[in-house]
Amino acid sequence: MLKILEFGKSVRPLVDDFLFKLLEGKPKKLYDAASHLPKAGGKRLRPILLLAITKGVGGDWKKAIPAAAAIELLHNFTLVHDDIMDEDEFRRGVPTVHKLWGEDMAILAGDLLFAKVFEAASKLIDYGVDHEKVVKIVDILSWASITVAEGQVLDIEFESREEVSEEEYIEMITKKTGALFKASAEIGAIIGGAPNECVIKLGEYGLNLGIAFQIRDDILGLTADEKTLGKPVYSDIREGKKTILVIHALKKLSPEEKATLLNILGKTEDINELKKAADLIIKSKALEYAEKLAEKYVKIALEKLEEACIQDREVYDMLKELALYVIKREE
Ligand code: IPE
Ligand code: IPE
Ligand code: MG
Ligand code: MG
Repeated sequence: MLKILEFGKSVRPLVDDFLFKLLEGKPKKLYDAASHLPKAGGKRLRPILLLAITKGVGGDWKKAIPAAAAIELLHNFTLVHDDIMDEDEFRRGVPTVHKLWGEDMAILAGDLLFAKVFEAASKLIDYGVDHEKVVKIVDILSWASITVAEGQVLDIEFESREEVSEEEYIEMITKKTGALFKASAEIGAIIGGAPNECVIKLGEYGLNLGIAFQIRDDILGLTADEKTLGKPVYSDIREGKKTILVIHALKKLSPEEKATLLNILGKTEDINELKKAADLIIKSKALEYAEKLAEKYVKIALEKLEEACIQDREVYDMLKELALYVIKREE
């Protein structure tokens, strides 16, 4: 097992205990719906990144547990609402919140998770984190929440557009996915007491890691084994998402093939049609292109990591591993 994932395994119970305690309350239905996704599993990559960085810059990672829980709560909030918007029926191998409780309850469960982000962050004080740092962290959490919303709007707007450039795609995923990874890295660095220049470098490491992570997510959305992935494949095609794969295919296919692809994207749920679109995308060599692009962002992430102030050699290696892992992962 990778060292970073071993570290993750050892810190996970502490993050989860903190998180699950915050998700107890009444009415039971609301708290059941809100804790459904966190309890179903997930990789906990953002809390792992946050805690590894706190340790890496020479801080006490145990002090950062409420922040790690906060970032995971924020992530889970975005997923609950994302699954409503993307009309997806399962995630982490279980039915989605809106599927089990209906959309009204899923919206409220998301709202609760979002509010709990800030309740969790306020508890950093009890863990010995200075007021000044907590204010900075709340500011970063607010920024990340705003940025994800901006990115999600772009994601939805692009569905109804035929032409989306790679640049626009990168802006969209930087916002919808990069922001949370950037926030995790910065918060970890702040709690660990890193100097400002180093917080910035680690934020850039996180951001580029997040971009690569989302490109891999787009690839998996077409190629993964559904059981391992825990969420539906071909959902992006069904919804008409302008993933990097689709953008590349629309650029490279013949006019007839392009027309066929456009006639399927966002227009049908027929599995044979969705497969036909997937075949066209594969034919355009979009997978190879996306893999190269993800590697480019990992390379940038690694450069930023090298320039940052990670003194702990073991953690440095773990963060390097994480960057390589995100583009090789199967789940
Ligand atoms: C899913 O993130 C959402 C994306 C940004 C692609 P993860 O793949 O980290 O989801 P979990 O937390 O492991 O379920
Ligand atoms: C990822 O969205 C980012 C957020 C949830 C904010 P996607 O829609 O691309 O991710 P999955 O594939 O549903 O996890
Ligand atoms: Mg989705
Ligand atoms: Mg989405």
